[in-house]
Amino acid sequence: MNAAQQTVASLTVQTHSAEQTRQLGATLAQLLQPGDVVWLRGELGSGKTTLAQGIARGLGVEEPVLSPTFTLIREHRGRLPFFHADAYRLEGAEQAADLGLQEYFERGGVFAIEWAERVADALPEERLEVLLEGGADEHRRITLTAHGARYTQRWRQLEESLAAAGFRDNS
Ligand SMILES: Nc1ncnc2c1ncn2[C@@H]1O[C@H](COP(=O)(O)OP(=O)(O)OP(=O)(O)O)[C@@H](O)[C@H]1O
Ligand SMILES: [Mg+2]
Repeated sequence: MNAAQQTVASLTVQTHSAEQTRQLGATLAQLLQPGDVVWLRGELGSGKTTLAQGIARGLGVEEPVLSPTFTLIREHRGRLPFFHADAYRLEGAEQAADLGLQEYFERGGVFAIEWAERVADALPEERLEVLLEGGADEHRRITLTAHGARYTQRWRQLEESLAAAGFRDNS
């Protein structure tokens, strides 16, 4: 087991509307740094794109953030570049390799990818995972997990920012 796998921190919050999930994303975005990779996980319609919209808002992106399901990767300009990808249509790391992901990771932006687990082998091991659960109504359980020191180092700060924004840890 390597260092990235050993270093984990996690917290769970609840949201009760799409707007609240966007606020969560925007709060998270305040702590994001160039080169960060965010995995967005959860079933169809769980709110991955919605959370990405919040990250974009927090990064100061002004244009609309739409689902990248067909374009695979969309680029937005904010405080940092924001790359928003969707691996739903990809089958494994081989297809992901064709996207030239490495180039994006090196461009000093924030890279958020929906259905990231489908292309895990093509992504850096250190990552911030966001798992969204629920969906029949507007309630979502959202678990943030830091894999690797790159993200665990910011955990205390993240907890404080989330608390200040009214999100309580329910894990
Ligand atoms: N608490 C909530 N958080 C996020 N979305 C919510 C919430 N409550 C209701 N919704 C609604 O659920 C839907 C989530 O859709 P969204 O496109 O974000 O999901 P997704 O996970 O990206 O789906 P897909 O796998 O198809 O890409 C939206 O219509 C949104 O308005
Ligand atoms: Mg989506």
